Amino acid sequence: MARLGVNIDHVATVRQARRAAEPDPVQAAVLAELGGAGAITVHLRQDRRHIQDRDLEVLRQVVRTRLNLEMAATQEMMRVALTVKPEQATLVPERREELTTEGGLDAVLNSVQLKPIVKELGSGGIEVSLFVDPDLEQVKEAHKLDAQAVEINTAAYADARDARAREAALRRIVDAARLARRLGLAVHAGHGLTYQNVGVIASQSEFAELNIGHSIVSRAVLVGMERAVREMVELMRSGPVRQG
Ligand code: PXP
Repeated sequence: MARLGVNIDHVATVRQARRAAEPDPVQAAVLAELGGAGAITVHLRQDRRHIQDRDLEVLRQVVRTRLNLEMAATQEMMRVALTVKPEQATLVPERREELTTEGGLDAVLNSVQLKPIVKELGSGGIEVSLFVDPDLEQVKEAHKLDAQAVEINTAAYADARDARAREAALRRIVDAARLARRLGLAVHAGHGLTYQNVGVIASQSEFAELNIGHSIVSRAVLVGMERAVREMVELMRSGPVRQG
């Protein structure tokens, strides 16, 4: 079964709403691991709107599973990653005005900029994953860039309005995932996954990791982080919910 990477950014979003000390994403990470998380994911954004540098430093000391740092492909973020040394860095596009990551990286268009960053992170012992749309050319480029993994963007699947669109989006995800596996890349997936839609994605054998944030943190507000994570792991294990 794929490991569940729990993205705890929005625990920090609540804290930053008051510039207060709580809720603490580090405590959330400990509870997420107790609930069965296989990785803790945080996005240190350039505007520091949720996760702060100190969070990352403390998480590095506390996380017992794997720390996955989502980051823009910039010199500043590369310096942070090489200092903190997460097990994994996931390169994502970042725009200041966006509410959340919108779309995958264009690895083909940005290959010249990405190449030295992937190389230096790799030399620092960090596994590099590229967040890309389910597009065969992007997967091939990630392989050419010597990334260890791709995270396939599941937003189009999650946002599909009807069964036909959902099926088409799933097909693209599975095709991209199969190509990535054939090229020897580890395959991750994420964005927009929820308790309702995770089963179908989790049942695809290609995936080594699913990264889920908003849905888990939303449920954690109501039932607690440990239980929210445990329920998601259970749904990943049991596969798609049968209708009727
Ligand atoms: N994967 C990546 C690369 C992301 O940027 C995000 C959002 O931070 C996620 C997964 C998690 O998405 P969601 O919050 O919709 O579960």
